[in-house]
Amino acid sequence: MIKQIAVLPGDGIGPEVTGEAVQLLEEVGIQFGHTFHFQYADIGGCALDKTGTPLPEETLQLCRESDAILLGAVGGPKWDHGPGEKRPEAGLLGLRKELQLYANLRPVIVFPALANASSLKAEVLEGVDLMIIRELTGGLYFGQPRGRKQTDQGLAVVDTLYYTEAEIERVLRKAFEIARVRKKHLVSVDKANVLDSSRLWRETADRIGKEYPDVKLEHMLVDNAAMQLVRKPSQFDTVVTENMFGDILSDEAAMLSGSLGMLPSASLSEDGPGLYEPVHGSAPDIAGQNLANPLATFLSVAMMLKYSFHLEKEAQAVEQAIRKVLDDGYRTRDLAQEGEPALSTTEMGEKVRAYLKQEISV
Ligand code: IPM
Ligand code: MG
Repeated sequence: MIKQIAVLPGDGIGPEVTGEAVQLLEEVGIQFGHTFHFQYADIGGCALDKTGTPLPEETLQLCRESDAILLGAVGGPKWDHGPGEKRPEAGLLGLRKELQLYANLRPVIVFPALANASSLKAEVLEGVDLMIIRELTGGLYFGQPRGRKQTDQGLAVVDTLYYTEAEIERVLRKAFEIARVRKKHLVSVDKANVLDSSRLWRETADRIGKEYPDVKLEHMLVDNAAMQLVRKPSQFDTVVTENMFGDILSDEAAMLSGSLGMLPSASLSEDGPGLYEPVHGSAPDIAGQNLANPLATFLSVAMMLKYSFHLEKEAQAVEQAIRKVLDDGYRTRDLAQEGEPALSTTEMGEKVRAYLKQEISV
């Protein structure tokens, strides 16, 4: 198989984790006889510095022409004070919107070896295996009007939570399809006791749900969902929610897996290239120091192999290599207990590649 992959390292620790992920993909290629071509482009703060825009036209063009996109992270204190459209995050949001990457899959897997890295008790984490599907191209992130204006009461500001029924419907459909190949239990999270947008969301879920009678649909209010996620996370299988709720709940859920450094994501459109990125941000405090955990990006690579290239065996080999590295006690700094030795980003990359090789050769 020959595939073109657009690599957008971005800012902060982005270049370090994507650098290791590219090497991992190269190793997968060698072991399984595939050719991956990598082409690099700028996004976020580094693109702002070079071109004055966080999403240059060339980057968008390259992404459109690729089979899949691997992204590191965007943002940093250097660019925190610009206006909305001159912030690094606008690059990522623009990419999601332009490519219509409406379904954001964020699986939360608990590696038994990491149960004590989590801030939650190990017994609460037993049996946790859930998938959050976050709507990614609508809601408060994109709704118009937005912004500030001067009024006779002083400054006023507005953000708009806007969804069309079609937008709600397509992400719900995707969620039902995914729930169907998981444990057939879908929790739709909303705030229907307060928000009109949530009421339409809930009605649409009930309507679409009739087409999936084999999937058990449950509604949950977002405040309750936030609580249940730390109270009894094993009650969840597949979760679907709108953009902003999904942003917040997925960071919360990341802590179930021990570290934000462990959570991968895939953003999918109807038929264009998928975007794969770790859920964590650019971590400017540790950038350039070879300290970042590359495993969320590696798990995102596994998702790319599975969802974009349909290379199931290869995806499993990557996951398996990560599992074994963790079982054997290797940790990056974010995962290590007090006093435990920690691997650097590049050392963790080497370890996972070595384990992958070993696994294939036995
Ligand atoms: C995420 C991030 C982004 C978001 C930021 C960087 C704009 O937090 O992917 O969860 O809010 O979607
Ligand atoms: Mg987020």
